[in-house]
Amino acid sequence: MKLLFLSGADRAEAWRAQFAKLAPELEFVQWPDVPDPAAIDFALVWKYPPGELARYPNLKLVSSLGAGIDHIVGDPHFPAHVPFVRLVDPSLTDGMVEYAIYGALRHHRQMRQYESFQRAGEWRPLPAPDTKSTRVGVAGVGEIGGAVARALAGLGFAVAGWSRSGDGPEGLEMFAGAAGWKPFLARTDILVCVLPLTDATRGILNAEAFAAMPQGSALINIARGGHVVAADLVAALDSGPVAYALLDVTDPEPLPAIHPFWRHPKIEITPHIASLTNPATAAPQVVENVRAFLNGKPLRNLVDRGQGY
Ligand code: GLV
Repeated sequence: MKLLFLSGADRAEAWRAQFAKLAPELEFVQWPDVPDPAAIDFALVWKYPPGELARYPNLKLVSSLGAGIDHIVGDPHFPAHVPFVRLVDPSLTDGMVEYAIYGALRHHRQMRQYESFQRAGEWRPLPAPDTKSTRVGVAGVGEIGGAVARALAGLGFAVAGWSRSGDGPEGLEMFAGAAGWKPFLARTDILVCVLPLTDATRGILNAEAFAAMPQGSALINIARGGHVVAADLVAALDSGPVAYALLDVTDPEPLPAIHPFWRHPKIEITPHIASLTNPATAAPQVVENVRAFLNGKPLRNLVDRGQGY
């Protein structure tokens, strides 16, 4: 049985080592060196050229290397009959939670102001922020967003969530759908975007959304750059109400050197590093799904492509 690794070569060796250990019966094939496409049974994919998967006529199962699946949903040539599973990697979730906590505390504890005071040699205490009355809003409360919301609530923030259906983790105040979007934003001092990127959420962080947010609010985007309308964010930072944006994701990636985000004084950018899939914790579930497929058992984290996440 052959497993195609359809992603950058830089990550291949770590994955190859895991499969050698966990499933030596699977032969690891590193794309693009695929002498016999018909021999490929399984594929592990991340940001591959659209249409590529249609070249493997005997493909049985595709696993995403990450949590997001927009790269696959956006591929019009994805072989429709092939089941597709995504990863739910606990170590990926932990990294996302850590990054969201960092961004929320950085804004909440006014660290950027203190950095500028230090540069000016100023000893200048600001009024202490009150955590219980600082309202965090988590947009998208699935596997990762739910964990982010729980962690920030654990720090004492007033946390609420927003989702299309209004479903969310037990005990979390939720806002639902289009009707709940602006009320949710209006009570959100720190917005953490963890939404999936779908036709319904592309550009959702736009001028109208920013206008609904309170003065001095912050945006932490750990989802996809496509959620943000760049010019609208710059305008909301320049003229209010948004005071700070921490962006781990941009559109496109990498962000071109001339993009206004790079040098905006109220924007901080990291290169999509909030969290990375860890082959050691993620490979076992890929192998489990391959074995489940071969034994006719249900697959874990099967994606409904129609829904888009
Ligand atoms: C990373 O962006 C992922 O979706 O796993």
